[in-house]
Amino acid sequence: MSNVQFYSGEVIPLEMHKVRIVQKLDLVPIERRLAAVNEAGNNTFLLKNRDIFLDMLTDSGVNAMSDRQLASMMEADDSYAGSETFTKLENQIRAIFNKEYFLPVHQGRAAENILSRVYVTPGSVVPMNYHFTTSKAHIMLNGGSVEELIIEEGLQTTSDCKFKGNMDIAKLEAVIAKHGAGKIAFVRIETGTNLIGGQPHSLENLRQVRAVCDRHGLMIVFDASLLADNLYFIKAREEACKDMTIREITRELSDLCDIIYFSARKLGCARGGGICTNNRDAFMKMRELVTLYEGFLTYGGMSVREIEAIAVGLVETMDMNMVNQGPQFIEYMVSELVKKGVPVITPAGGLGCHLNAMEFLSHVPQTQYPAGALASALYLVSGVRGMERGSISEQRDDQGNETYANMELLRLAVPRRVFTLSQLKYAVDRIVWLYENRALVGGLTFVEEPKILRFFFGKLKTTTDWHTALVAKFKADMGDSL
Ligand SMILES: Cc1ncc(COP(=O)(O)O)c(C=O)c1O
Repeated sequence: MSNVQFYSGEVIPLEMHKVRIVQKLDLVPIERRLAAVNEAGNNTFLLKNRDIFLDMLTDSGVNAMSDRQLASMMEADDSYAGSETFTKLENQIRAIFNKEYFLPVHQGRAAENILSRVYVTPGSVVPMNYHFTTSKAHIMLNGGSVEELIIEEGLQTTSDCKFKGNMDIAKLEAVIAKHGAGKIAFVRIETGTNLIGGQPHSLENLRQVRAVCDRHGLMIVFDASLLADNLYFIKAREEACKDMTIREITRELSDLCDIIYFSARKLGCARGGGICTNNRDAFMKMRELVTLYEGFLTYGGMSVREIEAIAVGLVETMDMNMVNQGPQFIEYMVSELVKKGVPVITPAGGLGCHLNAMEFLSHVPQTQYPAGALASALYLVSGVRGMERGSISEQRDDQGNETYANMELLRLAVPRRVFTLSQLKYAVDRIVWLYENRALVGGLTFVEEPKILRFFFGKLKTTTDWHTALVAKFKADMGDSL
């Protein structure tokens, strides 16, 4: 929100856009929701959109697009090679990130595949502030391992630390000393750290990481997928940056990094991705793999319409009134839940509101996947679809043992400019009801468990018939209400 204060003193986010296209939503009755959650094996990824009211699974590819983005898509230059549309995006990348070379890919994980294939070899190590599911999977697939060096506050569920996504510089030095710089493929910084609640890092922290990397001749690879939210937090929370423009902050972050990659399903509000760098050697190595896995160098697996939309979306992201929309709506939701005593990750981060399932369902042991159970229960009582970000999102070790997550979170993503305030109020209302009835919720156990990225396709069943008890209580309290 721009500098607008409400006379009432209420702190509520104000939309700096108007809605011109809408999509009809249905809220199906609880009986249908019960059938749907069972058909989906209690995995919200397997629900059908027709059964969902508010889709808070992710922001990926579902942020609202602007009129200018949609208009630009009509101008796309559809040619296999040498498309003008690609040149537009390349020029914007140069203007915004100050990086000469740009490689298009079809989405963020495709960039991770290419980076890992080029730089990760068996035995190599990738220090990072925190992992993301696909980034870790690609590093491991190439025989590498990750070292997570998030500051201690990063894993505390409630805190007033403004930059819980910061890397611990002493730990970085220690990891380099332990493995030797020669074993380190690159240092990965994830901006707006997804799996620990969309928590930001500061510009100052990145400067410190750069200084260490310079001393040891290491490369910084910056995952900029969640850059929009992190830019907002740097401007809003980092005293030294409060007078910088969003463009200046972006440029300074970029200049500290050797390679930047992003999912344009998140950054740029369209669908696609890219890698950029000033390092010609890195560009040449990755270029071959782009043509092999993605497509020719002027589309990289993306439709040219999406490339147009990304070019416009990136420019629009360089605006405080755009990057503040997600974080301020999330802040509103988090503060309403805190008032009601619901355990959520604080301070509010980007990407979404994160319920702390370990505390919400403190009676459900981690062996029974509390975050997955909470996702199932919330969908059942509200039609709101969230995403499990806990142990189900981890994978078993080489011996087949569970590797339990540091945090059991239910992420309720708030895609940018998509939901209204009353829709968020509805979600808060049902979460509060569920919290008051949490004793009725039980655990989950796998019935189908894929080996890789099991959270996408795995199916689970309830450990007891707690769904029935929850539906009965809902009907007793809410009567005919959907
Ligand atoms: C931080 C981060 N990196 C990488 C990715 C992968 O991007 P994509 O889903 O486009 O493959 C994501 C997606 O959620 C992400 O949040």
